Amino acid sequence: MTETILQEKLGGTVFNALRHVADINKIETYVIGGYVRDLILGIPSKDIDIVVRGSGIEMAESVAARLGNPKVSVFKNFGTAMFKFRDVEIEFVGARKESYQRDSRKPIVEDGTINDDQNRRDFTINALALSLNKDTFGKLVDPFGGEEDLKNGIIRTPLEPDITFSDDPLRMLRAIRFAARFNFKIDDATFEGIKTNKDRIHIVSSERIVDELNKMIMGDVPSVAFKLLEVTGLLQIILPELQAMKGVEEVNGQKHKDNFYHTLKVLDRIVPYTDDVWLRWAAVFHDIAKPLTKRFDDKLGWTFHAHNHVGQKMVPKIFKRMKFPMNDKMKFVQKMVHLHMRPIVLSEDEVSDSAVRRLLFDAGDDIDSLMTLCEADITSKNEVKVRQYLRNFKVVRQKLKEIEEKDRLRNFQPPISGEDIMETFGIGPCRQIGDIKAAIKEAILEGEIENDRQQAYGLMVKLAKEMGLQQQKYDK
Ligand code: CTP
Repeated sequence: MTETILQEKLGGTVFNALRHVADINKIETYVIGGYVRDLILGIPSKDIDIVVRGSGIEMAESVAARLGNPKVSVFKNFGTAMFKFRDVEIEFVGARKESYQRDSRKPIVEDGTINDDQNRRDFTINALALSLNKDTFGKLVDPFGGEEDLKNGIIRTPLEPDITFSDDPLRMLRAIRFAARFNFKIDDATFEGIKTNKDRIHIVSSERIVDELNKMIMGDVPSVAFKLLEVTGLLQIILPELQAMKGVEEVNGQKHKDNFYHTLKVLDRIVPYTDDVWLRWAAVFHDIAKPLTKRFDDKLGWTFHAHNHVGQKMVPKIFKRMKFPMNDKMKFVQKMVHLHMRPIVLSEDEVSDSAVRRLLFDAGDDIDSLMTLCEADITSKNEVKVRQYLRNFKVVRQKLKEIEEKDRLRNFQPPISGEDIMETFGIGPCRQIGDIKAAIKEAILEGEIENDRQQAYGLMVKLAKEMGLQQQKYDK
């Protein structure tokens, strides 16, 4: 890309201020990293990283002063400073030379030149810098052929892959994320470097790993990232449960499908319908217990009996190990895994009202997410079958709507409480109360009575009479 085009793109208030301050103070100043990469790719970005040959903190303060004094946050220990201007975040750092100790993420840092700074970056496409000084404004500093790699769609480390990846093993995940996001290829030597260094991912904190995985899963075609994780050997370390789903077994000429690739298809299929990262994770985990529950039966062929139950129990263990939140998000994923076959089973037969009511009762407010997951789960190659399923799903959705309007079962509250029963029959806590409540709930779900207090009251009286309970008579 020519300097003039880059110069034009670097217009605007922020870059004018940067140029001005760099000029007055005579400090070598560059914009570097993701911002330059995205600028060349034509992707708008709101994160600007500035590297100066000198003090990043002083530079930040001078630029902020020119931009109406937005609040500058200073991180003295790291020698960095940042501020927000409008909706753009600008981070400043002095050019550094860094080397890492083998067993720690903590680098030893010294001042350096722009080239030293570029050397310690992760990929050639992320090491591009543009000068912001007057005489060289918009000039690209590209010591590793990053512009060429951007053009050819290549992810490559600027130094020997072993050095770049042992400096920060998280970069192995970043390589995969960028390859998936931009549809780039990981250069052969870099790819081999990931395979060789994969075990060093152990020294990276779960939080950083999860952060990367979440970014991968929020991509447009997340299966690409997961396939790369698999072939590099990283998946076996990070998510062995998912790795275990790969493969096809054959007994008596009968094969089951490869559940790893099926899962990835479901994940890609759910992407256009949800930006909820947890629903996307539910797609990843929905069949997670298939390897554990797999059996071959002479009559039935391959079965995965109760894989939804077993899978639901696996979710907290995985969440704990990965340091995912152990809160309602985990419960949501568990619920999705547990219920993921229900709408399909339901739509296989004629869709009965009572089955729809039960589904609505069990899924509650998450019914729409569950339906989205189930629709994504239909990956059969048989077009006729797929069309039939999707048609039946429409019927299920329609019935769900009608029944919810009538019976309001999403957040079911029993129309008759335990206290109501105790008061009416003058009894203390006992088993009969539970029995009556359960029978009322059943009658509502079966459609024998509506979800209505009067009808439920009538049934309560009838049931109590059968149990020999006496209704209390109050004196006025
Ligand atoms: N970087 C690095 N190694 C890392 C993380 C970051 O070398 N483990 C460098 C890269 O030069 C990167 C820059 O720091 O371009 C900024 O990092 P970050 O903001 O995390 O990523 P971006 O490249 O800006 O990409 P994104 O669009 O994902 O924010």
